[in-house]
Amino acid sequence: MTNKNSLQRRLGIGLTLGVTLLWLFGVAASGLVAQHEMNEVFDSALEETAQRILPLAVTDILNRENGTGNLTAPALKEHDEYLTYLVRDGQGNLLLQSHDADISVFGALPQEGFSNTSTHRIYGASAVSDTLYIEVAEPLNHRHEAALEAGLALLTPLIFLIPISLLGVWWIVRRSLRQVVEFQRSIESRGAGDLSPVEGNQLPTEFEPIAVAVNRLLERLHRALETERSFTANSAHELRTPLATALAKVQRLKHQIHSDALKCNVAEVEVALRSLSTLSEKLLELAKAEGGGAIAQRPHNLAPILAMIVTDFEHRIPGRIVLTLPEGEVNSFLDPDAFAILVRNLIENAIKHGASQEPVEINLSADGTLRICNGGKVVPADQLVQLRNRFARSKTNADGSGLGLAIAEAIAAGANICLHLHSPATGRQNGFEAVLNVAVAR
Ligand SMILES: Nc1ncnc2c1ncn2[C@@H]1O[C@H](COP(=O)(O)OP(=O)(O)OP(=O)(O)O)[C@@H](O)[C@H]1O
Ligand SMILES: [Mg+2]
Repeated sequence: MTNKNSLQRRLGIGLTLGVTLLWLFGVAASGLVAQHEMNEVFDSALEETAQRILPLAVTDILNRENGTGNLTAPALKEHDEYLTYLVRDGQGNLLLQSHDADISVFGALPQEGFSNTSTHRIYGASAVSDTLYIEVAEPLNHRHEAALEAGLALLTPLIFLIPISLLGVWWIVRRSLRQVVEFQRSIESRGAGDLSPVEGNQLPTEFEPIAVAVNRLLERLHRALETERSFTANSAHELRTPLATALAKVQRLKHQIHSDALKCNVAEVEVALRSLSTLSEKLLELAKAEGGGAIAQRPHNLAPILAMIVTDFEHRIPGRIVLTLPEGEVNSFLDPDAFAILVRNLIENAIKHGASQEPVEINLSADGTLRICNGGKVVPADQLVQLRNRFARSKTNADGSGLGLAIAEAIAAGANICLHLHSPATGRQNGFEAVLNVAVAR
């Protein structure tokens, strides 16, 4: 699962963001409700305080000997006042104030009921037939502070909620997707030649159709490849037989006739039939190579196969091939039949197009690198790049149809192998070299 489109990542971030937003909504809503309720409680406390102080203040004022004059209520002990109050008459003359009261906070004339200034919440009440007024002021920032603290207390769980939610979602998604990841790995790890059905029984229900579709596709592919293989094999057989018969008949005819001119003509027909036979073989090889099937279901040791093919050629040109094989096995997923066709074409080229007096070096190393090297003229770079195309040939006197390298390239491409052609050959002034690594076949 790449991070770019990871379901796990998306769900983790999405769900955590969702939970956080919902929580913030909840915090905002409950904050508003709490603030409203706190205001009611604070107002009621303010009102209660005013009602409690008023009778005491009235008694105090009426009992004064001179009856007038400002008087600050004495504080029993030094302390900060949270609620401050004033007692005034109807004209706003101050009769009594709490010791910390700031007169500028209150209006010029006393007012009954609740009122707000920019800094305070004030409650006013009257007594003695509206001749005496008490006003109690409470600083608003105290209420703000209380609301803020309540809000912060509600927000604090988010610090834990976000990582817990991320972890929780990650864990749950990881657990739920475990079978899907295993399914993905089982597809990834199988070689290109393995077309057996994939195991999808353990997948979550939502993913089961994918496994079914993949298996259906694999089955169709398997059937198509099988059909293709059998068609190629049958066609090869069907073509080979009549061509071989025609060739045999022409050869017999050649021996039966005595006229030299006629013999010459029949010999030409024989050559034409031979090249037709070779061409049909090559075309069928190309069809097979391009039809896939270059990958085997399991790895094979290719070293003995190479040795066998070289022995075949040795009979034709004794002493010209120099073969070097590694001591151990060279296992590869490259299909043995495909490998044989590829190697035959490359060796055949080296023998046919290389300088006849120089050896053909074939080297298979333990890491799977196969080198087929011959002497001869250098093939110009511009022609070298064209040689893998069908029917492409550089200047040569040797006969051929120009399909050998196209076949080799098709097989290599089918097995994800890179076929390198060099001219001059590595470490030489001339010649031609084909290099590929069979171990990388997948
Ligand atoms: N080992 C080599 N040394 C020199 N030239 C080569 C070698 N292999 C290929 N070539 C050149 O590349 C051309 C294409 O090779 P390719 O195998 O495709 O065709 P071909 O050998 O001419 O014909 P075919 O393989 O169909 O019988 C050859 O004609 C030859 O000019
Ligand atoms: Mg060839």
